[in-house]
Amino acid sequence: MRKLILFCLGFVCLSVIQAATLISPNQKLALTVSVVDGVPTYELQFQGQCVIKPSSLGLKLEDTTSLTNDFELTNVQITEFDEIWHTVLGEVETIRNQYRQLAVEVTQTTTQRVVRLVFRLFNDGVGFRYEFDKQSNLNYFRVADECTEFAMNGDHTAFWIPGSFDTNEYFYTTSKLSDIDATKVDGSGIGTHKLVAKNAIQVPLMIKTASGLYMNVFEAGLINYPAMGLLVDEQKLVLKSTLAPSAVGTKAFMQTPCQTPWRTVLVSDKAADILASKTILNLNEPCKLINTDWIKPMKYVGIWWEMHVPNKSSWNYADHPNIKLKGMDWQTLKPNGRHGATTENAKRYIDFAANNGFDGVLIEGWNVGWEDWAGNWKEEVFDFVTPYPDFDVNEVTRYAASKGVKMIMHHETSASVTNYERRMDDAFDFMKLHGYNAVKTGYVGWIIPRGETHDGQCMVNHYNRVVEKAANREIMVDAHEPVHPTGLCRTYPNLLACESARGNEFNAWSVGNPPEHETILPFTRLLGGGMDYTPGIFELKMSHYQAGNTCQVHTTLAKQLALYVTMYSPLQMAADLPENYQRYMDAFQFIKDVDVDWKDTKILEAEPGDYITIAREGKYKKGWFVGSITDENSRVSEIAFDFLAPNTKYIATIYADAANADWKENPQAYTIRKVVVSSKSKLKQKVAKGGGYAISIRSVNDKSELKHLGKL
Ligand code: NOJ
Ligand code: CA
Repeated sequence: MRKLILFCLGFVCLSVIQAATLISPNQKLALTVSVVDGVPTYELQFQGQCVIKPSSLGLKLEDTTSLTNDFELTNVQITEFDEIWHTVLGEVETIRNQYRQLAVEVTQTTTQRVVRLVFRLFNDGVGFRYEFDKQSNLNYFRVADECTEFAMNGDHTAFWIPGSFDTNEYFYTTSKLSDIDATKVDGSGIGTHKLVAKNAIQVPLMIKTASGLYMNVFEAGLINYPAMGLLVDEQKLVLKSTLAPSAVGTKAFMQTPCQTPWRTVLVSDKAADILASKTILNLNEPCKLINTDWIKPMKYVGIWWEMHVPNKSSWNYADHPNIKLKGMDWQTLKPNGRHGATTENAKRYIDFAANNGFDGVLIEGWNVGWEDWAGNWKEEVFDFVTPYPDFDVNEVTRYAASKGVKMIMHHETSASVTNYERRMDDAFDFMKLHGYNAVKTGYVGWIIPRGETHDGQCMVNHYNRVVEKAANREIMVDAHEPVHPTGLCRTYPNLLACESARGNEFNAWSVGNPPEHETILPFTRLLGGGMDYTPGIFELKMSHYQAGNTCQVHTTLAKQLALYVTMYSPLQMAADLPENYQRYMDAFQFIKDVDVDWKDTKILEAEPGDYITIAREGKYKKGWFVGSITDENSRVSEIAFDFLAPNTKYIATIYADAANADWKENPQAYTIRKVVVSSKSKLKQKVAKGGGYAISIRSVNDKSELKHLGKL
């Protein structure tokens, strides 16, 4: 680790402009921070080309003089940092954290308050935040709005979802910045769909410029502050920060010393660099956990998809519109006959997991309260410790342990967070008592305390508290419907994955996810951490379950396999039903084989909204795995195997779309072939519309294996 104060530099001091500049370690990015007419401003260049025009910084306060103007630059400090750190789980084993830091102290002349604007310039982007020391005239303050601007140098193409403080489960729209209109987006199927404004969008925002640059605007290290969104000024092409409000309208409640999260801009002339960027993780604090041995990647199955597909199972045990937890005698309720989480069904999934080498089993709908859980804004909704009469938790625990399978607990909170906070300790104790070491949380619906939002400061603190509390008890977390993750899995690696975007489940019961969806998520949502997307659906048309149902997964079967590699997560589900996998055991072999935690990752092909091809080297499973996906267009993927060790022969099993495959008409047509490859091999592989391919590559155990195999 190296931290070095370079110099305390003098700055250009004209009558109205004071400025300091910084160059990235690879010399490609140049940052200038100035105070112009009393307003702190920054601008960014990439290889001499302006990418962020002069953009102002500041905070509007509710209770005292705003920190927006009357500033002068009073001190500048440049430092340099370079370290290698080891991931607990990740896309790579080690990460280099190299940046130059510019800390600009600005003093408000009218109040004598000091704000430190700290910029970290990496080789692929910049992160900056506002820091506030404890000072006699700045102890507590309330933020009415953050006025951070990102002034664009053109009407770029944006991959965006509409601004909302309560959901990020939208599909992406691709348009010019000036054409953004959130009111045109279809929010059907999203219970908490509520727009912020016509011109409001969410981060991470992916951008492509006409000159071929790729940019991304996001935030890192979201702690004790609301999530940031963006308002687009369609005329001036300036993106302005907007924060999720609290129940009383105030955006953030601050007490010095404190700081905002990092605001980030990634820039490169290669799309692959955005996917490979580790800047969001690097901006987060190092791991806070002393012992991380208990944190393990997980491949799992579960009683889950059968509740999402039409006409099969239910979370609820009985059909009843009005349940009170207290005093309820569950034995007297008439079962509806469709309850998924029965002891018997749990054993079926445990057997399937054990027989196929999966680590865990998730069971949803095991606990009482699902009869009226959604849509009632009900506070006492679940207690997280009482199983339904037909779910024998002790027997399930015993059975799972006897088969060497871990159980994943489900805590759907129905967004009743006051209730969850009250019961969380007991709920975690119950988990530990029954040997559960991972929990999937959920926040469906409008938040309680009523008036708070999923993305506000209060909820941000809640999600982080859950992760910390879970860490104290050696529990891993998978959060559904939380705020977008911002790289906190570096600090708390027990935060295995989040949903925080439109998952595969939307394909079961809504207009679904367009074929391009999975080619955008890695450029946006996944920058903040792994996603529990729940891939692996083989029975792709819902008419399979219910005649006349037009819902359909918008991919081929082969693309579902590829998602295990392209959609990074150390927690991956094989989401389909065991009986569906039984019919395609040859294709299922890839899901059995694929690793979910990686030594190394190579981005082979990438274009947001079009295609992604990634190769990853397994940490637990020896060998490499490749995943390639396309959007609604068919294409030919061309890759070289130069990531393999030289002078070594490997056997590659290629799971590809059949010649006549097509996501809409013929999604289940796939081929599997085995070939010999080396670091000199090259592949040209046709990918169907909405299709993909997956490859598992292993070294040769015994030369006779090569006998009947062709070369690439
Ligand atoms: C939404 C989650 O994303 C999904 O995975 C879960 O099954 C339901 N909520 C019920 O908790
Ligand atoms: Ca969800």
